[in-house]
Amino acid sequence: MPESRVASPLMDEVRAGLLSSPKRLPPALFYDSAGSALFEQITELIEYYPTRTERGILERHGEDMLHTAGSELEMLELGSGSSAKTHLLLRALLERQEHASYAPIDVSLSALEQAKATLAEVFPGLEVRPIHGDFLEGLASLDGSRRKRLVLFLGSTIGNFDPAHATDFLRAVRENLHPGDALLIGMDLAKTPSVLIPAYDDSAGVTAKFNLNVLARLNREAGADFKLEGFRHVARWNEAESRIEMHLESRSRQSVRVAALDLDLSLDKGERIHTENSYKYRPGAGEAILRDAGWTLERTWTDEQNWFALHLARH
Ligand code: SAH
Ligand code: AVI
Repeated sequence: MPESRVASPLMDEVRAGLLSSPKRLPPALFYDSAGSALFEQITELIEYYPTRTERGILERHGEDMLHTAGSELEMLELGSGSSAKTHLLLRALLERQEHASYAPIDVSLSALEQAKATLAEVFPGLEVRPIHGDFLEGLASLDGSRRKRLVLFLGSTIGNFDPAHATDFLRAVRENLHPGDALLIGMDLAKTPSVLIPAYDDSAGVTAKFNLNVLARLNREAGADFKLEGFRHVARWNEAESRIEMHLESRSRQSVRVAALDLDLSLDKGERIHTENSYKYRPGAGEAILRDAGWTLERTWTDEQNWFALHLARH
């Protein structure tokens, strides 16, 4: 199946973002096949602690998490990517249940296809039902099932929403589920900028490539003429908002055309396009978002350094 061109709601967001001041681009734009492959490289970087920290918590407490979530579960995952960490939970699920099903939901077709192929090899007994699309559309498209659902939202992808949107989003997730269903959500915690900044500005330049890929994608899919060498990757810690921000900074005064949007832009030297926020939760902040979204927090697991938390919340 060919990868679809930038979907139109996403293009509406691109237009609105490029016309706003300061300019911004939606983070969903990162995840075409090139971007998903770059994200996988990021997860293996020594500087990018979130993946290995969350994996460590899952290795240590995965069985306990499933036990807390309940029995005879159907597993779903929002923004599943490669599903690599999920293998830990799926292995535990298959040990507990005769029949297990897993629905990975992701906007990246390439990530879903690779995940599906690997899952079929590693877990031949698992029923895998991939859903290509947006988080909530994917969740809403699921047919009614009597089984209790466990929804996974790993990797601190929730941190890419600002807190108000995160609350609205988790409320909408809950509205698509039933009483007794559970959510297992990963949240990256606030820590020293000396750890945070390198995680988003690594020495091999992989995160810079990941960031610049949004411009390359607009060139490929929207007939834009961004010159990638004309932009610099910037990662900064915003202490007041407790978030890492990623930007693309124009190295000179320049003009850009986005043909598919019939848009002519001008950028000043030093002007930035804001591409991503990644919130890092202070004590109580993630719990408050879950509560405000109507979820009941049951258990939290963290690592020894208290760098990352996994919360199990109940509908
Ligand atoms: N859960 C994985 C991947 C995190 S990267 C991990 O923890 O490593 C974020 C994932 O969310 C990517 O695979 C991306 O394609 C997906 N994604 C981003 N925005 C999305 C959206 N609006 N709807 C569905 N998936 C989305
Ligand atoms: C998917 N998301 C949680 C990642 C993050 O850490 O915010 C995306 C990412 N951006 C740069 N590196 C990784």
